[in-house]
Amino acid sequence: MTIHAATVPAHVPPERVIRFDFRNDDALRRDPWGTIAAMNDRPDIFFSPDLGGYWVVTRGDLIAEVFSRHDLFTATSLAIPKIENPMKLIPNSFDPPEHTGYRRIFAQNLFSPRALATLEEDSRRHTRSLLAGFAAGRCEFVGEFATRLPVEIFLLMMGCDLARRDDCILWVRDIFRGRTLEETVRGFTAADGFIREWLAEQLADADANPGGMFQAMVRSTIDGRALTFEEMHSITMMLFAGGLDTVTSQMTHIMRFMAESPEHRAYLVDRPDAIPVALEEMLRRFGISHIGRMAARDFEYHGVAFKAGDPVLASTPISGLDARAFPDPLRVDFGRAGKRRVKHWGFGAGPHLCPGAFLARTQLRVMLEELLPAMPDLRIAPGAEIETLPGATIMLASLPLKWSAAR
Ligand code: HEM
Repeated sequence: MTIHAATVPAHVPPERVIRFDFRNDDALRRDPWGTIAAMNDRPDIFFSPDLGGYWVVTRGDLIAEVFSRHDLFTATSLAIPKIENPMKLIPNSFDPPEHTGYRRIFAQNLFSPRALATLEEDSRRHTRSLLAGFAAGRCEFVGEFATRLPVEIFLLMMGCDLARRDDCILWVRDIFRGRTLEETVRGFTAADGFIREWLAEQLADADANPGGMFQAMVRSTIDGRALTFEEMHSITMMLFAGGLDTVTSQMTHIMRFMAESPEHRAYLVDRPDAIPVALEEMLRRFGISHIGRMAARDFEYHGVAFKAGDPVLASTPISGLDARAFPDPLRVDFGRAGKRRVKHWGFGAGPHLCPGAFLARTQLRVMLEELLPAMPDLRIAPGAEIETLPGATIMLASLPLKWSAAR
């Protein structure tokens, strides 16, 4: 794997060059949302020379177009900085029409109502069990909850031994938070080995986990044929890479906000029915995903010349704080869309729109339903310094919480 050196190509006009390193900027660590909201003062499209050079789109509706227009912005190269010969993840690294057949497997098999039948009760049981494990009146929310619940649900869906939870948490950390390429590769390699071993075991005993995610995958076909081992492996790696760190990151921001805003928290404790609508506003306000695309060919787009191969960032945090789409964007307003759920791009847009959104929303909703009433006077532990980790997903490094424990 080679990472390209930083550069400003000749076709980029100097007035469009503005530095923004979504992986490392100190400003993002100190004040992520203020830094992202400041994109409202930048051009609709600019070029950052960081991370090998890439375009940044700052308007929500244009970001949705970058997600959707595979004729212009291909998903065949998703990494920023660009990686030579990246691992192909099904379905994410494919454009339609190849993408379409794979994607059907997610809707009809993997995430079918049957495959997700026990998701709600599983999420509630595991949430309660993690809550019961907290010391009276305090926890370090990232380590004791947000990293654990998504991995536990994932292992349940795989029909896999929960004893592997802490290994998986380490691999996810290496993949998404690795400080060097070696650490990232180490995480991928370990997860790859685990998934290959699991698949081989499942194939040897295909009746072992009836109704589980694996059975749904084995039953699925593409173009009238069964999936190959490599395709099943790629799908499972995709779920591992797409479904764990994202939910964790999202949980950290939502719980921090709940701890810092007693009015919003009291509103949800009093009206748990309002949680689904409130959740969408928080998904908008605290977008987490930095997703890459690549210009598919030379073209002009909203007055900007793109050259084939240019990396392009579609950022859901930037889309959610676009003041043209969401007036006063930093304000959390559960009534922003009246009684309806605010429409946002936190799960992307177009053919790649997140197929795990139902899974994520269920875990987040159950978290709020179960934790908020159990944590009266919730607050950040006094003196705690909260560090934000920028990157492919924006996440908090730790979140020490306190509340009034029942006597
Ligand atoms: C709050 C949590 C989550 C967020 C914010 C999120 C966000 C996103 C976004 C923005 C995309 C679009 C990527 C693109 O256009 O290239 C996406 C795709 C995807 N997500 Fe999620 N996701 C979350 C949870 C999950 C979960 C729980 C799963 C499954 C276990 C999952 C599986 C996937 C898959 C498989 C794709 C690729 C879809 C495709 O390429 O067609 N995600 N997600």
